[in-house]
Amino acid sequence: MNPSKRLGRRRASVLGLAAVVSLVTPGIANGADRAPDAPRASTLGAQAAQSGRYFGTAVAAGRLGDGQYTGILDREFNQVTPENEMKWDATERNRGQFTFGSADQIVNRATARGQKVRGHTLVWHSQLPDWVKAIRDANTLRSVMNNHINTVAGRYKGRIHSWDVVNEAFADGGSGQMRSSVFRDVLGTGFIEEAFRTARSADPSAKLCYNDYSIEDWNSAKTQGVYRMVRDFKARGVPIDCVGLQSHFGAGGPPGSFQTTLSSFAALGVDVQITELDIAQAPANGYANTVRACLNVARCTGITVWGIRDSDSWRSGENPLLFDRGGNKKQAYRSALTTMGGTP
Ligand code: G3I
Repeated sequence: MNPSKRLGRRRASVLGLAAVVSLVTPGIANGADRAPDAPRASTLGAQAAQSGRYFGTAVAAGRLGDGQYTGILDREFNQVTPENEMKWDATERNRGQFTFGSADQIVNRATARGQKVRGHTLVWHSQLPDWVKAIRDANTLRSVMNNHINTVAGRYKGRIHSWDVVNEAFADGGSGQMRSSVFRDVLGTGFIEEAFRTARSADPSAKLCYNDYSIEDWNSAKTQGVYRMVRDFKARGVPIDCVGLQSHFGAGGPPGSFQTTLSSFAALGVDVQITELDIAQAPANGYANTVRACLNVARCTGITVWGIRDSDSWRSGENPLLFDRGGNKKQAYRSALTTMGGTP
């Protein structure tokens, strides 16, 4: 489904010694509106950078010893997200006992290579140790949550491009309300605001994102629930800088309203980021439509695929990624790159 073509503004690339940055009136987002002398990059991250964006991937520390994996990672991507290594069960498995070895490995490696880092994720009801789930006293949970945020975000202060401060707090289905979790049930719906305020103080340099799945379709009650929250936060000066749309799609790719959703959130005054992209069977047009929707929304600042090779995917059986099990580029890869204006 082709998203409606919206005219946005796009920055030309910065070229060579003479920085040339010009606003060009975008046409159809197929690279045709690139600055005429902008080079066509041959990798995802380099081409995305030409419009001031990133193109990244989830990274698993356990795969960093695999030369094929790291070869693709360093050639193609200018942003990384630790797939599991910054989650609560990895960083504070036991109360007050923090472990950062794997997260440090990913962050240090990425920053050494000039790759941006998305932090994932500070407050989530899943992959949450049982000792947190068992807390029933509000003051205790508030102290535990704020200490976790301060410790984890504080450790990487100044080195994180964007934090998924709160992940997947809204319920599936038609309620448009927050899901039940220890955080909502013990602290109330205000826990999200509190988490964002704490995160801002812990790392003022990071963009603070609310991240969720199934919020890509503008007609979805869940999308509208998140939209109302973000609108309220911006109206009250709650520190939120972006919305992460995970974008785990079926074989049909993004919903027809995807670009409307991106632009509607952006119009609230936040960035939008496609944070965990994978598409069942990796249809070329599905990846093209996703990339094009982002390019058509100026405040869509980057795309992250949720893994490198199909074999690295949490849904590997659906072959949803840009590289096959042998590390070869798939048609979806070429589609994503050429839609950005690059050339394989
Ligand atoms: O680390 C343990 C290991 O010690 C143990 O031997 C092994 C077997 O039980 O499990 C390992 O933990 C696994 C972990 O990934 C690290 O590999 C968990 O079982 C497994 O459930 C976990 O899956 C992750 C999943 O989140 C958990 O919800 C996936 O890798 C990860 O891709 C997926 O990512 C999530 C995002 O964080 C949020 N959005 C949805 C997305 C897909 O579910």
